[in-house]
Amino acid sequence: MTDRKPVEPVVDAQLAEPFPTPAAYAAAIEQARAAAQAYFAGGELMLDDGDYDALMARLSATERAEPDWKADDSPTSVVAAGMAVAGDVVHSEPMLSLDNIFSEDGLRTWSTRLERILGHPVERYTVEPKIDGLAIAATYADGELVRVATRGDGRAGEDVTAQTRLVAGLPKKLSEPVSIEVRGEVFMTDADFEVATERRVAHGEPPFANPRSAAAGSLRAQRVYDVPLSFFAYAAHGLPDWAHSDGLDYLHKLGVSTVAQSSAGLALCDTVDAVYAAVGRIGTGRASLGFGVDGAVIKADSAADRSAAGASSKAPRWGIAYKFPADTRTTKLLGIEVQVGRTGVITPVAVLEPVQVGGVTVTSATLHNFADLVVRDVRVGDTVFVRRAGDVIPEITGAKLDERAADAPEFTPPETCPRCGGEIDRAQKRWRCTNGRACGAMESLTYFTSRPAMDIEGLGGKILQSLIAAELVTDPADLYALDVATLIPLDRMGQVSATNLVTAIQNSKAQPMHRVLTGLGVRMTGRSMSRRLARHFGTMDDLLAADAAILQHVEGVGPERAAMIAAELVELAPLIRKLAAAGVNMTEPRTAVTPSADRLPLQKDDGSPMTVVVTGSVPGLSRTEGNEAVERLGGKSSGSVSKKTDLVVVGEGAGSKADKAVELGVRVMTAEEFAELVAAAED
Ligand code: IVH
Repeated sequence: MTDRKPVEPVVDAQLAEPFPTPAAYAAAIEQARAAAQAYFAGGELMLDDGDYDALMARLSATERAEPDWKADDSPTSVVAAGMAVAGDVVHSEPMLSLDNIFSEDGLRTWSTRLERILGHPVERYTVEPKIDGLAIAATYADGELVRVATRGDGRAGEDVTAQTRLVAGLPKKLSEPVSIEVRGEVFMTDADFEVATERRVAHGEPPFANPRSAAAGSLRAQRVYDVPLSFFAYAAHGLPDWAHSDGLDYLHKLGVSTVAQSSAGLALCDTVDAVYAAVGRIGTGRASLGFGVDGAVIKADSAADRSAAGASSKAPRWGIAYKFPADTRTTKLLGIEVQVGRTGVITPVAVLEPVQVGGVTVTSATLHNFADLVVRDVRVGDTVFVRRAGDVIPEITGAKLDERAADAPEFTPPETCPRCGGEIDRAQKRWRCTNGRACGAMESLTYFTSRPAMDIEGLGGKILQSLIAAELVTDPADLYALDVATLIPLDRMGQVSATNLVTAIQNSKAQPMHRVLTGLGVRMTGRSMSRRLARHFGTMDDLLAADAAILQHVEGVGPERAAMIAAELVELAPLIRKLAAAGVNMTEPRTAVTPSADRLPLQKDDGSPMTVVVTGSVPGLSRTEGNEAVERLGGKSSGSVSKKTDLVVVGEGAGSKADKAVELGVRVMTAEEFAELVAAAED
């Protein structure tokens, strides 16, 4: 994690910088066209989504600033960016595109313009996910699927009937003998993408960069791959003049999957505020939908509004795409670290130049396994594609081979386990240290028994080492099975010390849940985060039941940390169950008076929070961060000084609050002292 937040490319045409010369504008058109060609063909991406959107925004900005330069066939005004696409199935009506917006302002401007065109308020809006797949038109005659075509250039597309025969959600036969054309998106779910990638790699082919490329590649493949594809409809032609939402309901009745049945659902909204909230809900839940969504689509629901609004040559006026930040971005691979997990699994991890992906700053990502790293041929120094999807840790899906330095060295995998020097078992794709759990046992047991965690006195390094060597313990839960008779034969163990140690171990069972969590060493959490998690959930069961979305309700847990914690808890669940079965407490006392060693710096003796006022500026902390720090340190922040205030932090520029503190005899601390306290208490 880092504080450095690189700026997302500017994708909003209102804010983008125009190109300075006609030549630069023309070159950018060529670049956009070539990138679109690669994108629609499902090949290797030339630009990541964010850079492509930024390029298009600059083209639009240039055309607004210099209307004379505008090329008739500019990618901004033609469907599919005007690329050459093969296809001889002429669509019954052109398959248009959607205009994009990127902000609440953009949404309000669009709706105001639409209402101006209509001459009255929009009767009702719908909000649905924008599926990141490929548009197709499926023609049904008397209920039978007769043809499926890609969008192509919008006017005519390719016949992909054969390739779509196994697409989930696009039935061969409808439940009624109707003749309609269903339009929607063919895509690959995140789960199917994993399966398809494995299958493809097993056939010696390079993996696809992301589910979208996988869907595109599979859909257009001449050889019909047996790859799992899915479909969600978002429109139909040939239906009566129904509201959009009613049309989707009907498609569902016919047996077609629609965006309304997707896990993101369809929201009906009477106001723009409600629309904005619904867009936000899709955006927040995006990581756990199970399929790629690159935005939300807002539409006027009523048929009357839609027909009155009409369309331009490129896009309808009754609908708009609210684009989310790209979930695949490119960045530089700074290094490859080798991590050894708790069970001895050895994984390559990418260290990245910080990049915003899906609205989150990503600094490291998984490279899965060494076999995958070789197949993807990723090297330090490469520009790599980073993807965040599903409830998972960011991953590297490939490198931009054309940008690689000629002398970029291949990565050399480790010869021996980097943690214990043991041998590596390479029989499976996931390499393991042959010492298995014992490889990390010393590290994890030391951590578990340490003072901030379970605080088991008398269990020093030497004894732990002998316990591990005697194969009496491999994980923390094994400690609770130890008895005096087992310990006495160990070096330096007498009856008394063995009895004391067993007592100390047994007593630790009563430790509060946050200490158990601290002891487990969940990555991206430390003492204070463990405390916050334990306080928030109260019981280990509730914590284990939380997914990444729910984990984000905990203060200080953003998407990246939430995904990591969720993944870690899945891995730790068996150990947690073993600890619980051994009788270790798995609850956090709600109002317990905590013993002093366990108290936070801004907690009173009885464990209750001190009331703290921060006034003036604290070096290195914003006002919000100052207040957050107070809470992290166990205090309660308040805005005004009174007799009830326990502490006032006085920073530069402090005003009357500092004087009042002195007047009332309230304890005062300088901002520097406070900053030190914060730094010392952070893990
Ligand atoms: S409505 C007249 N709804 O996004 C065009 N499109 O960028 C009506 N897409 O061409 C399109 N999810 O391929 C619509 N829920 C959704 C969509 C959606 C994905 C795609 C579609 C469209 C493109 C526009």
